[in-house]
Amino acid sequence: MSQPFYITTPIYYVNAEPHLGHAYTTIVADVASRFHRLAGDEVRFQTGTDEHGDKIAQAAQERGVTPQQYADQISGKFRHLWPELHITNDKFIRTTDADHKQVVTSILQKVYDAGDIYFAKYGGHYCVGCERFLTEHEMVDGKCPDHGTVPVYQEEENYFFRMSNYTSELKAHIEAHPDFIRPERYKNEVLAMLEQGLEDLCISRPKTRLTWGIDLPFDPNYVTYVWFDALINYLTGLGWPDGDNMAKFWPGAQHLIAKDILKPHAIFWPTMLMSLARAEGRPAQEYLYQHLNVHGYWNVDQAKMSKSLGNVVRPLELAEIYGVEAFRYFLMREMSFGLDSNFSEQAMVERYNADLANDLGNLFSRVLTLLHKFRGGVVPQGIIPSSEEEDWPLPEGTIHAGVHPDDVSPGSPLWISPGQLHFMAAERTYAYENEIRAFAFHEGLRWVWQIISATNKFVVIHAPWSLAKDPQKATELDQVLFTLTQLLADIAVLIWPVMPETAEKMAGVLGLHSIAPGMLEKIKANEPLLPVGTQTHQPPALFPRIDTKKVQAKAAKAEQKADTKPAPQAAEEPTEISIEQFGQVKLKVATVLAAERIPKADKILKLTLDAGEDEPRTVVAGVAQHYTPEELVGMQVVIVANLKPAKLRGITSQGMVLAAVGQDGLCVVSPSKPTPPGSQVR
Ligand code: MSP
Repeated sequence: MSQPFYITTPIYYVNAEPHLGHAYTTIVADVASRFHRLAGDEVRFQTGTDEHGDKIAQAAQERGVTPQQYADQISGKFRHLWPELHITNDKFIRTTDADHKQVVTSILQKVYDAGDIYFAKYGGHYCVGCERFLTEHEMVDGKCPDHGTVPVYQEEENYFFRMSNYTSELKAHIEAHPDFIRPERYKNEVLAMLEQGLEDLCISRPKTRLTWGIDLPFDPNYVTYVWFDALINYLTGLGWPDGDNMAKFWPGAQHLIAKDILKPHAIFWPTMLMSLARAEGRPAQEYLYQHLNVHGYWNVDQAKMSKSLGNVVRPLELAEIYGVEAFRYFLMREMSFGLDSNFSEQAMVERYNADLANDLGNLFSRVLTLLHKFRGGVVPQGIIPSSEEEDWPLPEGTIHAGVHPDDVSPGSPLWISPGQLHFMAAERTYAYENEIRAFAFHEGLRWVWQIISATNKFVVIHAPWSLAKDPQKATELDQVLFTLTQLLADIAVLIWPVMPETAEKMAGVLGLHSIAPGMLEKIKANEPLLPVGTQTHQPPALFPRIDTKKVQAKAAKAEQKADTKPAPQAAEEPTEISIEQFGQVKLKVATVLAAERIPKADKILKLTLDAGEDEPRTVVAGVAQHYTPEELVGMQVVIVANLKPAKLRGITSQGMVLAAVGQDGLCVVSPSKPTPPGSQVR
């Protein structure tokens, strides 16, 4: 059944040029939008730019231009980049748009009139990078862990939103709707934050400090806090309060973000929506979005992307070298949605050659070349038989009926009939659809590549070139070529959301006029997409192989450079320490929320720990050879909580996990009874 689907990306700050991270989120939103269009849903896809606040005002000042001029310039860069990456957003919103200012003003007034905004004095550590006050727990050595800067202590009178009033209501909603925030690890993070209790949210900035913002309607001496302004863009874009799109799309709203902005989207925004619902006398359910989809972070060559490291990946540069389609495919296939991933040019080239040049590109040109050679490029007579009806000659000694498609994996000795291949493609299409609907894009693509592998195998098993030698086998050859050509069409449809140009090119060559809604259903129902007699064209090379030598040489050079860094000096071991010295070491109990392997590092694991603080901690632990990530999740450990953060393989480790070094290897130290996270160890 067709359903309206509304997807949004974060609106990006205009203080930096678009990079890989922005491109990834926007491509994900595009893939989801295209998939839903293909499935026949009515789609609305919104992206845009976030233009108010300290960061933008500062960046403009540094360049000697007005904030508006500066915002126009960078916003334009984002807007122009998206079509180049084949992004098909329906709306590009800017927080400086007049209608947005109007909507923010009107929502503020409603929430204020309903008593959810009050005036008070507040003192706190403000980080300009985060555009918010940090709690003591969040700071590491008095600095912001994300920006490495010392937050400025500020005391002033401001307006506050009664966010704390909604703590239990939000918790109840998340518990009743387990996929409100997904994947699950982020839902757990949010529940842990709610468990700690919420503070009220400061939603204003005095004009004495910042004028670049939307005026508060009830006090002209203040402008609106940038997050309160920005989050509302998701409603403005639908014509809130009563645009047609509001009623149609808001109930199916899905937001897409990376983990960096989880708190504003999973806590500020739903509580703002609950308050708005209350102010309008409506049930909160009517205003809450449907899903928040959270992905991990891209690191580049194992390090965080940063201007100072000079490793900021500019999407267009890569797309120009390898093609936009391959770039989109790599990002979608490489990142397990929800987890962090590492970007390297070498990995991209390896995937390009293996998946695109070898598996997909070769299959396409091989099948069409055979079709042209033996049947003049015309789709021959054939059918899609059901497994029971299939009457296909059995080669001696092979298994035929009853072979489950799961057994037909690349390298398996099993033989596959045309009926089985079609049946397998239909089954895998169901699986693909479920994964994409759940934002597990990498898994969805894995199913498609299983179809591609099985089809490649089918070519080898049935060897059309041998069948062609025997005139008695003309009908068999027809059926084999019919099946292969239909499979190419199925594959074109399935890859369309990720690689639309390639898919359309394939469709054109196959004589399929366009890729249209309804085709997914046909594949699932085992109906052929290409009528018998369709004239196909000569195949172009879809993905010419890339010479890996150059890329390898480049990577080796970079590695050599990293290895020549001086090793740290070993500290002299003290024989005894005083109780005061021991007291300086802060040991705490923490619960392992998540554990991940780090690519190309076989000794260490990245752990996400609940140490009873506002935000989970990341700690890198050298336990990978003694524990699997699965064994560690849920385990309680003891950490050195005040250890100076250190960077390991590009990951900032905020502490150390204690372990006993026995003869049989490492053994993590754990309290003998379940203990609340954050408990002191003395
Ligand atoms: N303006 C706010 C968002 C307001 S939404 C109401 C903001 N802007 S941002 O420019 O900093 O964009 C953050 C987003 O960019 C992330 O949530 C993610 O979508 C994307 N990414 C930026 N760097 C990234 C990586 N290194 N990896 C993956 N995505 C990242 O926050």
